[in-house]
Amino acid sequence: MLNIGESKLYLDDDSSLDWIRSQKIGIIGFGNQGQAQALNLKDSGADLKIGLRENSSSTQNVVNAGLTSESVESICAWASVLVLLVPDETIPKVYDNIIKPNTDSSTILVFAHGYSIHYQTISLYPTQEVLLISPSGPGKLVRKRFLENSGVPSLIASNTNSSDSIQRALSYSKAIGCTRICAVLTTFSEETESDLFGEQTVLTGGIPHLIINAFNTLVDRGFQPVVAWLVCFYEVKLIVDLFSDIGLSNMQDAISTTANYGGQTRGERLINQNVRDEMGKILSEIQENKYFEEYQNIQSDIDISQQKSRQNSLSSFTEISRIMLPIVTSPRNI
Ligand SMILES: NC(=O)c1ccc[n+]([C@@H]2O[C@H](COP(=O)([O-])OP(=O)(O)OC[C@H]3O[C@@H](n4cnc5c(N)ncnc54)[C@H](OP(=O)(O)O)[C@@H]3O)[C@@H](O)[C@H]2O)c1
Repeated sequence: MLNIGESKLYLDDDSSLDWIRSQKIGIIGFGNQGQAQALNLKDSGADLKIGLRENSSSTQNVVNAGLTSESVESICAWASVLVLLVPDETIPKVYDNIIKPNTDSSTILVFAHGYSIHYQTISLYPTQEVLLISPSGPGKLVRKRFLENSGVPSLIASNTNSSDSIQRALSYSKAIGCTRICAVLTTFSEETESDLFGEQTVLTGGIPHLIINAFNTLVDRGFQPVVAWLVCFYEVKLIVDLFSDIGLSNMQDAISTTANYGGQTRGERLINQNVRDEMGKILSEIQENKYFEEYQNIQSDIDISQQKSRQNSLSSFTEISRIMLPIVTSPRNI
């Protein structure tokens, strides 16, 4: 185990596959995480089945993956560990209608995100053990890295916090490849709030909006959309790969002097105290449950149509991406 400040990082040697291999694992859902985690668990020697809803579009995918699927009810009766890998907003419906009536407090529940527990969208049996194993990456990467004999880090937690329970979370984490990198001990609340904050300010909010606004600024002033797209979008992956390899503070050695000076002086102007203040407000909305309440309300048709119209405003960027992505991702013969 590594101790970094107050953080505990568990590695492969700190965990064992014995527990996970002794359980009957029911994976509910076969989407992004469901498919990746199920395949990694299978390769790690776990006994598992997939729970799918009636007429599920994933039935054939499960067969193709060499796995078995049954109804969610039937998986509840069979499994000692149930892993809920359906969308977070769907979890209360599946849990209340099917899982709770067909299980008891002896079933261990596993989540890939703390949302349902932190915001109490489901009510557990009083003594039920709940584990969090949240891979820090999309399902496709969880599977790809596993096959490369590597993994993505995970955040783990247990509602009991007992050392046995944390060992169970580590066993699961090892089976999906995460402890090959590290599993960081957290709480359901810390994982949920930091995850939402990171998405909104950086990953799915900040970066995409930065890209699109920079793209539109160039195009509005008459620059070719293809040139704007290459500079503001295509190069993002290249620079992020560089950040990931050498760290932000070593970047200046690998970039031009103009890029270094311009980035430092203009970056601070752009991402300034106003942005920092807005980040603080976004975090407060998450911590004060305002974001959760807003998200609960957007299940209505009115708000979904508003979301669609927001997406439409990105159409010229979307159109140039549709044309350019196949060009830049597949080298042609010269
Ligand atoms: N996306 C990621 O890579 C990622 C990363 C970290 C954590 N997480 C967490 O992982 C969990 C799963 O997210 P995800 O993105 O993997 O979900 P997802 O891909 O959207 O899940 C789709 C799966 O859920 C099933 N499903 C939907 N509604 C259902 C219902 N009413 N009854 C039964 N099955 C139902 C779908 O069934 P059909 O096959 O029948 O359509 C499909 O198999 C969430 O807690 C999320 O926060 C996700």
